[in-house]
Amino acid sequence: MRKNIIAGNWKMNKTASQASEFLSSVASRMDSKDEVVIFPPYLSVAAAVAALKGTKVKVGVQNMHFEDAGAFTGEVSADMVLESGCEYVLIGHSERRKYFAETDETVNLKVKKALAKGLIPMVCVGEDLEEREKDLTFDVIARQLRRGLEDVAPASVVIAYEPVWAIGTGKTATDEQAQEVCAFIRKSLSEMGFDAAEISILYGGSVKGSNITSLMSMPDIDGALVGGAALTEDFINIINY
Ligand code: 13P
Repeated sequence: MRKNIIAGNWKMNKTASQASEFLSSVASRMDSKDEVVIFPPYLSVAAAVAALKGTKVKVGVQNMHFEDAGAFTGEVSADMVLESGCEYVLIGHSERRKYFAETDETVNLKVKKALAKGLIPMVCVGEDLEEREKDLTFDVIARQLRRGLEDVAPASVVIAYEPVWAIGTGKTATDEQAQEVCAFIRKSLSEMGFDAAEISILYGGSVKGSNITSLMSMPDIDGALVGGAALTEDFINIINY
C-alpha cells in the first residue's frame, strides 16, 4: 500500500548504547503521519526496538541471507530478523553491491525470502556516475528492477532510488533528476505487472532537512532513505518536513 516513508539507514554507525542514547533523546519527537523506519546495524537492533517501544517508528535490518539456516558464517536469517522485532529489510544497497558482491540475482533471492516470511523488502536501485555520464541510467535501473524482482508476485515491496554518485557526497540529485527516475521506476513496475500506483518509491542520496521538502513535493517521490543525516538531530527536521 503506497504511503510516505522516511527511513534512516545508519550503515555501520552507532553501537547499542549509542543507539539507545540517540533514540531515547529523539523518540518522542519521531512520531509522524508518515511511516518512519530506522535501519540500525544488527547488534544495535535490540536497543533500537527497546528505545522505540510505544512509538509508531518501525525498525529494519540492512541486509539478510536468503537461506533459512545453515553454514553461512556471519549471516542472519529472515526468522532471526523477524524475531528481533523488525518489519523491514534493506536489500541490494549499493554499498552491499559494491563491497560485498551483492548481485541482482542475490537481491532477487532475498526479496522472495523476505516476502515469504512477511518482511517488507526495501529494494535499492541506482546508477553510478559513469553510468549516468554514459546515459545508461534507465538501462541500469530497468535491469536492476527486472532481475531483482523477477518472478516476484505483485506484493508489498518498497523501492529506494539511490544514485550512487549522490550517496555521502553532499551532491543531491536535483528534484527533477530524482523525479524523472522515480517516474521511470513506477512505469517500469507497471510494465512488469505490479500495481505501481500502490508502491512507495523513495529517493536517497544526501537528503537533509534543508532539501527534503522540495523532494517530497515531487509526484513520484514518496519518501526518503537517509544516510548521514539520519545519525543526527537533523533527522527530526527531515521527518517533520
Ligand atoms: P547519505 O544520505 O549519507 O548520502 O546516504 C544515503 C544512503 O546510502 C542511504 O541508504
